[in-house]
Amino acid sequence: MFSFNRDISLDLPHIRLQGLGKAYQGSKGPVQALQGIDLDIRRGEVFGIIGRSGAGKSSLIRTLNRLEKPSSGQVVIDDEDIGAFDTRQLVLLRRRVGMIFQHFNLMSAKTVWQNVALPLKVAGVPRAEIERKVSELLDLVGLAEKRDAYPAQLSGGQKQRVGIARALVHQPEILLCDEATSALDPESTQAILALLRDINRRLGLTIVLITHEMGVIREICDRVVVLERGRVVEQGEVWRVFGDPQHEVTRTLLGTLRHELPDDLSARLRGQPGEGAHDLLLDLHFTGASGREPDLLAIAQALGTRVSLVHGGIDRIQGRAQGHLLLSATLAGPGGLDLLERARGLADKAEVLGYVAHA
Ligand SMILES: Nc1ncnc2c1ncn2[C@@H]1O[C@H](COP(=O)(O)OP(=O)(O)OP(=O)(O)O)[C@@H](O)[C@H]1O
Ligand SMILES: [Mg+2]
Repeated sequence: MFSFNRDISLDLPHIRLQGLGKAYQGSKGPVQALQGIDLDIRRGEVFGIIGRSGAGKSSLIRTLNRLEKPSSGQVVIDDEDIGAFDTRQLVLLRRRVGMIFQHFNLMSAKTVWQNVALPLKVAGVPRAEIERKVSELLDLVGLAEKRDAYPAQLSGGQKQRVGIARALVHQPEILLCDEATSALDPESTQAILALLRDINRRLGLTIVLITHEMGVIREICDRVVVLERGRVVEQGEVWRVFGDPQHEVTRTLLGTLRHELPDDLSARLRGQPGEGAHDLLLDLHFTGASGREPDLLAIAQALGTRVSLVHGGIDRIQGRAQGHLLLSATLAGPGGLDLLERARGLADKAEVLGYVAHA
């Protein structure tokens, strides 16, 4: 049933945004929601969009199916500028680009089956084909047994599965997700993410998703873009952006994933070593760029003193180890910068955070 067989060069970006701008007419004059956005989204990737509230994420995603018309620039899908589409072409475009929402947008008076069947009915698809397609889709999203239930009888995760099935009825080549897991508990979020990943792999769909949950990006996205005040401030593969964020906004957004120095330690931290025995606190940063693994034995041997891991952690994103290890190395007297020198060779970045005097 699902296959992607349009005659399109696979080398072309699936979606290309060129100089995209969007202005709204606000009550206090025009609001420039997007400006000068240049972006390529590859065929078959899961592409994440992050940014603070009001950064322009929904505005951007809604230009991809022309729910919003750009004020300037172009949205090119499969080498076609969709800005020039007439009404008939727009109807066809919206079948090629499915969308799911945070609040599911289901019809409460219709059953699961009827909700999924509706777009097919509207499109005039014969009854037997509707029956076949809807059954297949409900199987795909794991809701076959709920076909006669009403939305009010479903959990949030199940409602979102209906939303996904409905978005797939016209066999789209692109799926847009605007905060599709924001209303779900962590377990349902995981299940929906697994379903999206599965759909992405099995059907070869390009997925563009917006989320405020950085864990979602880490879990399923291939690349990510960071928006701030309607502009792109950072973009790239997830491991690269998350492993070594360059922009202030990205660092703030990723703050939820970061291991901050615990309060008790930061209260005792000093800028100078002092006289007696003390610990040197070192931050070893693994960005993933070098492919280097945190080799604990090598670290302990190189530092040549008692070393303990006080805080931090390593994640694997797209197969690359990254994160921060906060180490405390015991020193008998002043010094420690030689330790920093030795530590430099063991991580992508190393920094002395300070000194903690022994009680
Ligand atoms: N229909 C509209 N009319 C006027 N201004 C709008 C309209 N839609 C969005 N805006 C404004 O455009 C800017 C971007 O809004 P958008 O909804 O794209 O942000 P967002 O990144 O999706 O935010 P959130 O994370 O809160 O969903 C905001 O300043 C918003 O107030
Ligand atoms: Mg939004």
